[in-house]
Amino acid sequence: MDTLNRNSEARRFVRACRRQPVDRIPVWLMRQAGRYQPEYRALKERMGGFWALSTNADSITEATLFAQRSLAADAAIIFSDITVPSWAMGLDLEFAPGPKFKTPVRDAKGLAALSLYDPHEKCDFLMQGIRQTRAGLPDEVSLIGFVGAPFTLAGYMIEGYPSRSWLELKKVVYGEPKFLHNMLSKIAEAVIEHARAQVEAGCDALQLFDTTSGELGRPELTEFAFHYAKRVLQALKPLGVPLIYFGRNIGHALEEAASLGSDVLGVDWGTPMQEARQRLGNDIALMGNLDPTTLFCAKEVITSRAEDILNAVAKQPGFIFNLGHGVLQHTPVDHVKHLIDVVHDFRC
Ligand code: CP3
Repeated sequence: MDTLNRNSEARRFVRACRRQPVDRIPVWLMRQAGRYQPEYRALKERMGGFWALSTNADSITEATLFAQRSLAADAAIIFSDITVPSWAMGLDLEFAPGPKFKTPVRDAKGLAALSLYDPHEKCDFLMQGIRQTRAGLPDEVSLIGFVGAPFTLAGYMIEGYPSRSWLELKKVVYGEPKFLHNMLSKIAEAVIEHARAQVEAGCDALQLFDTTSGELGRPELTEFAFHYAKRVLQALKPLGVPLIYFGRNIGHALEEAASLGSDVLGVDWGTPMQEARQRLGNDIALMGNLDPTTLFCAKEVITSRAEDILNAVAKQPGFIFNLGHGVLQHTPVDHVKHLIDVVHDFRC
């Protein structure tokens, strides 16, 4: 084991992912870098927009490090977007502020036009950003890399834009399942390599975001979302870093989500953490799950809601505090910091 790996295994966040005892509960927040921070908004303005910020190693590093430092979070998540691999495969992409694909992929011809790529070459800005970020982080802080799960990424690529009903996606789910399987296989290949490169560049954990999975009922959730998430997780397992799987609105299927091969299950705010722990047993670490809207409430409300979660599940090994989804725009910065303090002050 080289020095980097040895340090990685000692970090509080990685220890919790491995269900080892920790001195205090590690905490980081999905979207800890984002529009709620004046410094992020200034950086985005200075860079000329979200995409320019996301494709430059120095600004990726600055956004990631600033968020970690200002919160004293136990992990940083590299600043990027799940749609970067879609762009790298050849799709034209804009942000307004959500991703917008000029030519959505809806048939075999569109799929054939997507190419697999070498992430070290095509996404050098990201890998360089990871190396620089790792060099700038305190030794005890972990760096998380991420990719979108195949189904969630396919959703954006088929729909073209974040959608309320996911109508175009659903038409493909029910009407063109063979095409969707081909598309998911190709995306899986791309995101596996994209994730692997992030670990090679210095990330010490990986999160698979499957935010759109909960739009599917049974048996499609298994067939189109879980099946490909599992394929990605199994392919990444030999890398040896902790793997986190995060799905949304899949509380009814937590047992199956926990069986896909991740070390950690990210739980959204719809399922009480205590229920998740009771249903899943102790063989998997859990991460979550304060409702992000709680951060708009008074500090006493934040304290009591966070402590409810901590008291319910943090006394046994294998828990990482997070929100149940990302920090929302307009969230008061001092409330976010207050939440981190509450978790840091909790004695397990
Ligand atoms: O701090 C971090 O969490 C790291 C950065 C990060 C971003 N996107 C930056 C971003 C991460 C981990 C993501 C993941 C991501 N991107 C997901 C999965 C998690 C989730 O939020 O559900 C998804 C579905 C996307 C696709 C995406 N990108 C959407 C739907 C949007 C618009 C959402 C919004 O908040 O308006 C984006 C844009 C985006 N990605 C922003 C940021 C900071 C906001 C854009 C801006 O600053 O103008």
